Amino acid sequence: KKIITIVGARPQFIKLAPVSRELRKQYKEIIINTGQHYDYNMAGVFFEELDIPKPDYDLGVGSGSHGKQTGDMLAKIEEVIFTEQPDAVLVYGDTNSTLAGALAASKLHIPLFHVEAGLRSYNKRMPEEVNRVLTDHVSDLLFCPTEHAINNLKKEGITENAIAVGDVMYDAVKYNIKIAEQNYSLGKFNVEKGSYILATIHRAENTDDRARLEAIFTSLSRLSNTIILPLHPRTQRLLREQGLFHLIESSDNIQIIEPVSYLEMLLLEQNAMAIITDSGGVQKEAYFAKVPCFTLRDQTEWVETVEVGWNMLVNPITQDLAELVKDKNMPIYKENLYGDGHASSKIVEQIDHFFNEKEDV
Ligand code: UD1
Ligand code: UDP
Repeated sequence: KKIITIVGARPQFIKLAPVSRELRKQYKEIIINTGQHYDYNMAGVFFEELDIPKPDYDLGVGSGSHGKQTGDMLAKIEEVIFTEQPDAVLVYGDTNSTLAGALAASKLHIPLFHVEAGLRSYNKRMPEEVNRVLTDHVSDLLFCPTEHAINNLKKEGITENAIAVGDVMYDAVKYNIKIAEQNYSLGKFNVEKGSYILATIHRAENTDDRARLEAIFTSLSRLSNTIILPLHPRTQRLLREQGLFHLIESSDNIQIIEPVSYLEMLLLEQNAMAIITDSGGVQKEAYFAKVPCFTLRDQTEWVETVEVGWNMLVNPITQDLAELVKDKNMPIYKENLYGDGHASSKIVEQIDHFFNEKEDV
C-alpha cells in the first residue's frame, strides 16, 4: 500500500521523523513537502539532522496570505494525488499544510489520517483552530495524543475512528534526547545549566497584535535572567515592521539567536531554568524536560500540562512575568501524560487494522 505524507512547517518535520521510521517498515511512503517553511534553519536542517527521507515532491509554495498559501498547496497536492494514486493520505497537526492536504484528499475520496487530532483551543480566531477542526471532520482515522482529545471530538459528534495513541512528539524526544546530549553542548550558547530562560515567540495572536508584541518583549527585557531566544522569522519581521526591534537591542538580558536545530533545542530546553513560549510543541517539551513553562496565550490545547502545574497561561499585558517566574515552584512530576513513547508504532498498527478491515468488506 502507498501512503502520501504531507508536511511543510517546522513542527511537522519533527513529528514526521518517528512516524516515517515505523511506517516505512510496511508501507511505501511518498513525502510531499509543501514548502510552507523554506529557510534552511526552519526546514532543511530537520531533514538532515533527523535523517528524514528526502521529499519525493517539493511544492515550493512558500509564504503568503492564508487563502493564497492554502489554495496553492491544495492545487499542487491534488496533482500529486492524481499522479501517485495513493491508498491514503497522512497529515500532521494544524497548519495550512495540514488543511490543504486534508481538503485535497477528502475531495478525491482518498482515506485521510490525521496525527494530533482532537486538540482544541476553542478560539476560532486562531488559524490553527480552524485548520484542525476542519481536518478532523474529514478524517477517516484520528490519532489523538490524549483521552482529553478523544473527548473533544466526542463533543463534536466524532465518536468513531478516534484512537488515543499518545503523542508522537514524545516519541521524538525519547529517541533524540541522548543523541542531543552526546552531540551538542551549551558552550555554543555561552550559558550554563540552570542559568537561563529559554523563550520562543511566533504565534499570530502575539506577533500580529502590536500591543501584545510590545508587552511581551517589554516584560522579557524586565526579567533579571539571561534569556536565550531563537527568533522565528515571522517575529523577526514583525518586530522590525512595528518598530519594536529596539526592545531587544536595548535590553541587556535578551540574547536573540537564529532558530536552532531540533537537537540543539532539546539541549536548550533540558538545561533551562524556565521556558517562556507560545509554541504548542515547546509547552510539552518543557514538561518532558521537567522545566516549568510560562505560556503567553489565553488558552492552550495542551491542558494537561497546566492541570499538573508545570505550565501556566500568562497574559503579558495584565500579568507580571518577572513576579511569576520568581515565585514559581517545581510541582511533583507525573509521568506519562502523553503516552509511552511508542505512539508511532501504535499509529502504524491502526493503519494496518484500517486497511485489513477495508479488505474484509
Ligand atoms: C506556521 C503555522 C503555525 C505553526 C508554525 C510553526 C499556519 C497557519 N501556521 O506559522 O501553526 O505553529 O508554522 O513554526 O500554518 N517565514 C520565513 N521563512 C520561513 C518561514 C516563514 O521568513 O522559512 C516568515 C515569512 O515572513 C512568513 C512568516 O514567517 O510570512 C509566517 O510563516 P507561515 O508559515 O505563514 O506561518 P508561521 O507563523 O510560521
Ligand atoms: N524548535 C526547534 N528550533 C527552534 C524552535 C523550535 O527545533 O528554534 C522545535 C521545538 O523543539 C518543537 C517544534 O520546533 O519540537 C515546535 O515548533 P514551533 O514552535 O515552530 O510550532 P508549534 O509547535 O507551535 O506549532
